[in-house]
Amino acid sequence: MTTVITTAREFRAAIRQAVSDTAEQSPLVSLVPTMGALHSGHGALLEAARTSGDILAASVFVNPLQFNDPKDYRHYPRQLEADLEILAQHGVDLVFSPPLEQMYPDYPEGPLVRVTTGELGRRWEGRSRPGHFDGVATVVTKLFTIIAPPAPARFEAWFGAKDAEQVAVIRRMVADLHLPVGIRTVPTVRDGNGLALSSRNQRLNAADYDAALHLSRVLFTLAARTEKREPLDVPGLRDELHRAEGLELDYLVVVDPLSLQELVPVEGALGADEVLGTSSSAASSHKSHGMMAAVRGDAPAALALIAAQVGPVRLIDNMELRPPA
Ligand code: PAF
Repeated sequence: MTTVITTAREFRAAIRQAVSDTAEQSPLVSLVPTMGALHSGHGALLEAARTSGDILAASVFVNPLQFNDPKDYRHYPRQLEADLEILAQHGVDLVFSPPLEQMYPDYPEGPLVRVTTGELGRRWEGRSRPGHFDGVATVVTKLFTIIAPPAPARFEAWFGAKDAEQVAVIRRMVADLHLPVGIRTVPTVRDGNGLALSSRNQRLNAADYDAALHLSRVLFTLAARTEKREPLDVPGLRDELHRAEGLELDYLVVVDPLSLQELVPVEGALGADEVLGTSSSAASSHKSHGMMAAVRGDAPAALALIAAQVGPVRLIDNMELRPPA
């Protein structure tokens, strides 16, 4: 049975209890942090976390610190009862669903102490939504700290690859702050027409939905061009999107997956050694930066990022660009 916990103290105690109850020597605690309004994309995260871990925890909390637009925060879908059913179906052991005053007792004055994400948090999504990634980093650090299972238990947290910029920020935060947690991702889940699943899709009408399909279409185009080693022609795709009806493009860029710095593809040959940063220092700084090397893992050569306003919602999507071997 899924237990729903609303206070940090009880959640931490429940994690410790679950760790001491398991027969595993070194159990793996897996956390899937969410803001609720769960869909099949979350389902994929929960399945992956369930399969790899021994104790599965999920959080449902709409975090006001990461909304720079109060209207977006107010309208963000909230459907806890339905979410709890989904979490139970996926075999979640512990659900943390705190009220606002539990996470931020003195909101909106507080919290006074927050995590800042520097220039990484001010690119692309961070530029258009000032403070967004600081808000994400602050709440995620709080969740990690509340859970922090005692050794020899291990701890992993799962995030959707759809939020690629968020993943880059969180990986960097974990490395910079030495947080004892592994970051895992699952690929973006798409509907039959290619649209990346998002809780915000609920607010698209039929015309918005058709317009939204342009986002994944251009990403698939970029992936196919990379695969065939054709020129990416990002400016040409941007022009198409500016002309498309029903959407307002914010950005379409090809970036380094870890630094999020823009990469300028060399015509017809996109690969780790075949991209140049837009600033003269970009390529050398991300190659020589020890921290970047430490968190790079098997990151793809490049990532295409897109964001647009479609009807009442802001949609984001991304795609790895992997040249043929
Ligand atoms: O990806 C999300 O749903 C949120 O940004 C997260 C990670 C749950 C933090 O509020």
